[in-house]
Amino acid sequence: MAYSDKVVDHYNNPRNVGTLDKASEDVGTGLVGAPECGDVMRLQIKVNPETQVIEDAKFKTFGCGSAIASSSLATEWVKGKTIDEALSISNTDIVKELALPPVKIHCSVLAEDAIRAAIGDWKKKNSVETAAAVPAAAAH
Ligand code: FES
Repeated sequence: MAYSDKVVDHYNNPRNVGTLDKASEDVGTGLVGAPECGDVMRLQIKVNPETQVIEDAKFKTFGCGSAIASSSLATEWVKGKTIDEALSISNTDIVKELALPPVKIHCSVLAEDAIRAAIGDWKKKNSVETAAAVPAAAAH
């Protein structure tokens, strides 16, 4: 299967690989796995507590090229966004940007899940209830 140029670019030059201090109050950590393939992704965000803007993001992914590219792109996209704006990033945006084929869609879902998990962790640490959390909870 041929990867798109953008996947190859992110795979060869992944942005924001690394680790933030998990113990910090300002850092949210999302650790998610894909049942389809066993790949694992960790995405971390550093949030300004006053503005709720994501000031930094790092990832580590043990997975396929598409998962690495998806998480690299996700860290680029969340930086500079508020947590509510970051919650609106969906895996379909990632699929479109990276031109992922159907068989690789779950790799982008992993990135969306990782963003949500990182934001959820940050909110829990900071006891934040945001407007975006209400409709999500009400939907169940
Ligand atoms: Fe499973 Fe890509 S093959 S995350």
